[in-house]
Amino acid sequence: MHSSTRIRLIEPTDAAPIAAHRVRDVEAFRRWEPARPAEFFTPEGQAERIDELLAGYRAGTVWPGVVLADDQVIGQVTIGGILPQVHLRRGSVGYWIGSVAQNQGHAGRAVELALRVMTDELGLHRAEASTNLENLPSQRVLRRNGFSPYGVAHSSIFLDGSWRDGLLWERVLGD
Ligand SMILES: CC(C)(COP(=O)(O)OP(=O)(O)OC[C@H]1O[C@@H](n2cnc3c(N)ncnc32)[C@H](O)[C@@H]1OP(=O)(O)O)[C@@H](O)C(=O)NCCC(=O)NCCS
Repeated sequence: MHSSTRIRLIEPTDAAPIAAHRVRDVEAFRRWEPARPAEFFTPEGQAERIDELLAGYRAGTVWPGVVLADDQVIGQVTIGGILPQVHLRRGSVGYWIGSVAQNQGHAGRAVELALRVMTDELGLHRAEASTNLENLPSQRVLRRNGFSPYGVAHSSIFLDGSWRDGLLWERVLGD
C-alpha cells in the first residue's frame, strides 16, 4: 500500500534531505528544471535558499512547503507569487517529487493539500501553474486537481539548453 502524503512549511533542517534528492536526480530533472549553481546541490546552499523562502513567507509572498511520506522529506510544493490584494488574491503552485517516490500519487495529493492552504489559510481566490508542454506527469497532477490549461507563454523558460514554451494552467478556488 502507498504511504500517506503530508505537507508542512519548510524548515532549516530540510536542507540536507532536499540536497540529497537533488544531487541524485540531477539527470532525471534536467528536462524539467532550470540549471542550478553548484551550491544548490549542497546542504549549505539549500539552507541559504530555505532562509530566503522563509523570508518570503514572512513577507507574505511565498508559502514554501515540503512534501512528506512516512515523515520523510520526498519533495517540495511551493505557493509563489502570492498577490493578496482583495481584487487579485492569487498564487502560483510549483512542485517536485524525488524520483524514488514518484508515480505513487504524492504530487497529486500534495497539490490538493496546497490548494487547501491557499483557500483556508491564505484566503486566495485563484490558483495558477505552468508546465512544460511535454511534461505529461505534471499536467496529470494539475488536471486531477481541477486545473485547466488556458494559454501558452512562448519562449518563457530556459530549460536544458534552449528557451521553451510554458503551458499555463488555472483553477478558480472559490470566493
Ligand atoms: C511531475 C512530478 C512532480 C509528478 O510527481 P508524482 O508524485 O510522480 O505524481 P503523481 O504520482 O501524483 O501523478 C503522476 C501522474 O502522471 C502519470 N504519468 C507518469 N508518467 C507518465 C508519462 N510518461 N506519460 C503520461 N503520464 C504519466 C501517472 O500515471 C499519474 O497520473 P494519474 O494520476 O492519472 O495516474 C514528478 O514527476 C517530478 O518531480 N518531476 C520532475 C520535476 C517536475 O517536472 N516538476 C514539475 C514542473 S511543472
